[in-house]
Amino acid sequence: LVIVIDFGGQYNQLVARRVRECNVYCEIYSYKTDLMKIKEMNPKGIILTGGPNSCYEADSPTYQKELFELGIPVLGLCYGAQLMMHVLGGKVERADVREYGKTEVLIDKTSSKIFTGVSEKTICWMSHFDYISEVAPEFEITAHTADCPTAAAECEARKLYAIQFHPEVLHTEQGKDMLSNFVLNVCGCAGDWRMDSFVEESIRQIREKVGSGKVLCALSGGVDSSVAAVLLSQAVGDQLTCVFVDHGLLRKNEGDEVEAVFGSEGNYDLNFVRVNAQQRFYDKLAGVEDPEAKRKIIGEEFIRVFEEEAKKIGAVDFLVQGTIYPDVVESGLGGESAVIKSHHNVGGLPDYVDFKEIIEPLRDLFKDEVRKAGLELGIPEYLVFRQPFPGPGLGVRIVGEVTAEKVRIVQDADAIYREEIANAKMDRSIGQYFAGLTNMRSVGVMGDERTYDYAVALRAVNTVDFMTAEAAEIPFEVLQKVMSRIINEVKGVNRVFYDLTSKPPGTIEFE
Ligand code: XMP
Repeated sequence: LVIVIDFGGQYNQLVARRVRECNVYCEIYSYKTDLMKIKEMNPKGIILTGGPNSCYEADSPTYQKELFELGIPVLGLCYGAQLMMHVLGGKVERADVREYGKTEVLIDKTSSKIFTGVSEKTICWMSHFDYISEVAPEFEITAHTADCPTAAAECEARKLYAIQFHPEVLHTEQGKDMLSNFVLNVCGCAGDWRMDSFVEESIRQIREKVGSGKVLCALSGGVDSSVAAVLLSQAVGDQLTCVFVDHGLLRKNEGDEVEAVFGSEGNYDLNFVRVNAQQRFYDKLAGVEDPEAKRKIIGEEFIRVFEEEAKKIGAVDFLVQGTIYPDVVESGLGGESAVIKSHHNVGGLPDYVDFKEIIEPLRDLFKDEVRKAGLELGIPEYLVFRQPFPGPGLGVRIVGEVTAEKVRIVQDADAIYREEIANAKMDRSIGQYFAGLTNMRSVGVMGDERTYDYAVALRAVNTVDFMTAEAAEIPFEVLQKVMSRIINEVKGVNRVFYDLTSKPPGTIEFE
């Protein structure tokens, strides 16, 4: 067992997942966990995650120095590294230069157990405003960067390791090696643990929980909810009803496509019900500009539609949602992390829900793990590798107020964009791509006439886990073709932008 102590960093579950990938069992605990309890669990190693605080401030999360005296190897990452130094007598201060993003790290001690097999110069993901200005006594600096004297430090004799950057993020090119060095070489874990088949275990748990109860599933046609629905249908069969709410914020023709796959003509036995609630959502969203307010309205209305549908079906005991782990983290429900956005299906839930309980079978999985589960469930590849689509749909791709007219513009622009990306054979290689509508109108000229129309923003990102992302490189001629088709074919648009922002600091969606 390796314990990950969560100090509220955005990547805490990623740390756990990387450890899982080394076939080492791992559990996450809050920084509030008592030292005695940690001792009792007798872990082979402890990893302290990053977090948003400054360790030298009085009310920041901390541990007594006994944590480092248990004889258990400890790896501190980012905040965890700073905390280790601070508690053990080193010095942490606010840096003049904030290091952010991909950074070249120079390894000073190549013989360090953590850096076995790691190149002397290696690209790592940095995200910090404090830095370790002085390491604690008995520690030596094992790596640095141009701006940061202590990118890593260690006290080999006590098996204490501090890393300022984030090895758990894939942008740290050899981060997996570093974590695997820690759990396998430093902690001496065997690396023989295997995750039980997720599908099998989930089906067993769902059956146990549901018994003979009735289950209602929110099916959006996206990857997550489709996998959740099929999982549920395999677990409880006929007790399941799937309701698909067409909220009028779907991609072009998507409602009909979802119905074709999951409806009575399709391959699944899901008791599929489609509700056409487009106008209801547009009415509720009229005049609302604030992104969080929009998300809440859409989430809440969604639940209302369900409640009404559930009443028609009769008593329902459980509601299934396709929430996945990144949704949970960004809504601030993933342990200690700060709220980034209240994701639909998570933070957007109203207080009063007219069901006994919510089932979220994918809550611990990342997107790529959801896809693996989908394939294991026998869902066809074209559905499993479908682009992710957020619960609030085009509502978060239209900056500012949502209107039926703006929805029409985004749908048409997005359909053209997708068609051209497929023509360029890039549809499977780009992580996520879509068109959004900026809330900006500007002057243009078309056929000798002045126009004053909207600007469409094209977004395309490459990402593995949707926690971090970078703008995808799309050949200029493809972008130009998309631009010219959108401007010619979509009424109301006279400008097209390509969004180069990575995540962070941006998010993938616009709101
Ligand atoms: P962001 O914009 O947060 O998106 O960087 C990360 C991934 O999550 C999707 N996303 C959502 N999915 N409900 C969902 O089910 C939501 O409210 C939501 N918001 C964003 C987004 O499309 C991307 O894949």
